[in-house]
Amino acid sequence: MDTYTTWFRDGIPAAVPPWKGYAAFNFVGGNIDPEMVAIDDLAEKAAAAMRKHGRAMAFYNMGDGPLGFGLLRDRVAERMNRTRGTNVTRDNVLITSGSGQGLDLLNQSMVGEGDTVIMEQHTYSAAATRLKKLGATILPAPLDSEGIDIDRLRQTLQALATKGVRPRFIFTIPTVQNPTGSILPLERRHQLIDLARNFGVPIIEDECYSELTFGVERPPSIYSLAPDVTIYVGSFSKTISPAIRLGYIIAAPEIVRQVAALKSDSGTSAMTQALVAEFLDDGYDSHIRRVSDALIHKLEVITAAVNREFGTSVEVERPTGGLFIWLTFPEGFDTRRLTAAADKQGIIFNAGADWSVGADAGLRNLRLCFAHLPEKVLEDGVAALAQVCFEEAGFPERGANSVRQ
Ligand SMILES: Cc1ncc(COP(=O)(O)O)c(C=O)c1O
Repeated sequence: MDTYTTWFRDGIPAAVPPWKGYAAFNFVGGNIDPEMVAIDDLAEKAAAAMRKHGRAMAFYNMGDGPLGFGLLRDRVAERMNRTRGTNVTRDNVLITSGSGQGLDLLNQSMVGEGDTVIMEQHTYSAAATRLKKLGATILPAPLDSEGIDIDRLRQTLQALATKGVRPRFIFTIPTVQNPTGSILPLERRHQLIDLARNFGVPIIEDECYSELTFGVERPPSIYSLAPDVTIYVGSFSKTISPAIRLGYIIAAPEIVRQVAALKSDSGTSAMTQALVAEFLDDGYDSHIRRVSDALIHKLEVITAAVNREFGTSVEVERPTGGLFIWLTFPEGFDTRRLTAAADKQGIIFNAGADWSVGADAGLRNLRLCFAHLPEKVLEDGVAALAQVCFEEAGFPERGANSVRQ
């Protein structure tokens, strides 16, 4: 008998390694604070969901068709209309198993080998990886501290148009950008929409972190301003739980039904859909406020630790919300230089180059997720990272301020 490896076709990814648990100072991923999982509320809503909707679980998709549980779609639409300025109904909503599945469905239905797509220069790495796997050419939209630099995006679109290339879409995370934490101002949203209309390129708007803002106003969603050129992707991963696997796409009904045709999982979990439908009806708003307040506190802790440990050698821009800080190291430095030595000390981080598209983008950046770690671990982890940096690169200078009790 051949080994198992011969059972698999060529060209598939390497097997996942055996799970060894998280590193001591695990700054990667988009996990949330375990203390912020709304255990009591969710337990109560799960019981209510089962009592109210249990019989519908006898049917695939709870008998509501391939777009997902109707009541959840109503409540997602209602919430979007109330908080994100849209005017949608359940017919505009496709429920997905996490927004990652939503992105996969959009990619599969919109992008083929050799197609061009535009992504923000620093972006959600898994979104870029997925598109690369499909053989897409990814062009960066340069960013500044407020998000997409519209003039430079216009130049890119013009250059492509001259060559007869029309990108399949512009992928943007405009409200609490991952990884930079910026919010695209209203005026730029309008300018982006003008570009999308003029060049005939749809916008995919990913609002994964948008509800978790730190006391700043959010402009209306791009979808609400231009439903004719926008597809919206949302998620409950960062507000309720990443493990719950629930997200949604919002778009014109004909788009939603087209994308649903590629969803081949016989429906997203009914229990999860019913549970979240109940939570949206009662408890979700106040839950989000609690989560945001807890995140602000952790942001203060990690920012103070970075300032204390790295001094002026590293810049940290305050994010408008979300789970991450994005650090900028001195000019010419590649943060991947720290990866191996950090790993040995049990410190894992996301190097900026892996969260960027385009040559040399993000080399001097580094992303730290601060949401899931206790305060003491945040402080000790940043101190340990600064020590690794000193040993590898000679900065930040070690002095009295770096000696932790
Ligand atoms: C910008 C962005 N979009 C989408 C996702 C996918 O999230 P999920 O599939 O858990 O909804 C993530 C996860 O980190 C993300 O950061």
